[in-house]
This record gives sequence, C-alpha cells and structure tokens, in this order.
Amino acid sequence: MDGIDFERLAERIGFADLGVTTARIDFGSEEHRTLHFLPKLFAVNAGRSIIPHGHSNMVSAHLPLTGAFRLRQYDQLARDEHSLTIQPALDRMIRAGDLSSIGEDEDNVHWFIAEEPSYTFDVIVTGLDDEAEQPYEIFNLDMEAAEPKGNGLLNVPLMPVSEALLKYG
Ligand SMILES: [Fe+2]
Repeated sequence: MDGIDFERLAERIGFADLGVTTARIDFGSEEHRTLHFLPKLFAVNAGRSIIPHGHSNMVSAHLPLTGAFRLRQYDQLARDEHSLTIQPALDRMIRAGDLSSIGEDEDNVHWFIAEEPSYTFDVIVTGLDDEAEQPYEIFNLDMEAAEPKGNGLLNVPLMPVSEALLKYG
C-alpha cells in the first residue's frame, strides 16, 4: 500500500487562524485497490469471548462501549501452515473507553474475555496488501496447546473456528 503523502497534504491545507483545517485521505484509485474499512458492533456476554486469533492483511481498532474484558495481545513473529509463533505483549482488564488496536505484526493476536455483558465498537481495515491472495485471513489459536519456545515465545497450533468456539468462545 502506498503511504500517505503527509508533507504534500500538510503544505496544501496549512493551519487555520481559528480552529482547524482538514484534508480527505486519498488511498488511490488503482484498478485492483481492495482496501476496505468495516465498522462493527460486537456483543459479548459475560464469560464469553472473542476467541484468540491472529490476522494477516488486516488491522483493526476496538473500543469497549460498556462492560469489562480481560484483554490479552501478542506480537505475531512467524506463521506456517499449522501454527503461529507469538510473543506476549499485553494482559490487562479494560473497560469502556479503553481503546486497543492491532498492527500487521505488533499486537496482532488478540483475545477478549468478557467479565460482564459487554459491547465493543470496532473498525476493521482489510486488503492492506493488493498483491495478497486473500483480502484478509484470520487464524484461530488453541492457546491451551501453546508450546514455549524460550525467551517468552510461544508456538501455538491453529484450530478450525467451530472447534475454537466450543473451546474458547
Ligand atoms: Fe481480530
């Protein structure tokens, strides 16, 4: 994906004498452009979870509106057909207003367990890489089967979503 030409935009809009100036961000209009922004509301009952998973070709941001979650996040360091290698990055309680996000590698794996009936407002961005075969992919993880690899790294097997929901959902 091409970067945003910040310097050109900043020069064009300058600063306002009062208030602000703004610019629309143009991601380009190439024929095969696949970048999509998808806003979504998630409802997660007490004890239920957004199951542990990693991603490719997507990033996202998550804002709890009500409730409380235990949120764990991990950096995604490597991926093969059967597993992800990840490193713990965060483990904390979050409540309304505690924004979290995932990057392409950093904090890319996340796992939300609701402690009470909870809602989050999410913005999901897919299609970061026009050359990728899939617009995005999600890798559900069997965290209980994680194997320590030393230096805090974990190798975690992938599992089908139906099994992952039964075990972690
Ligand atoms: Fe996710």
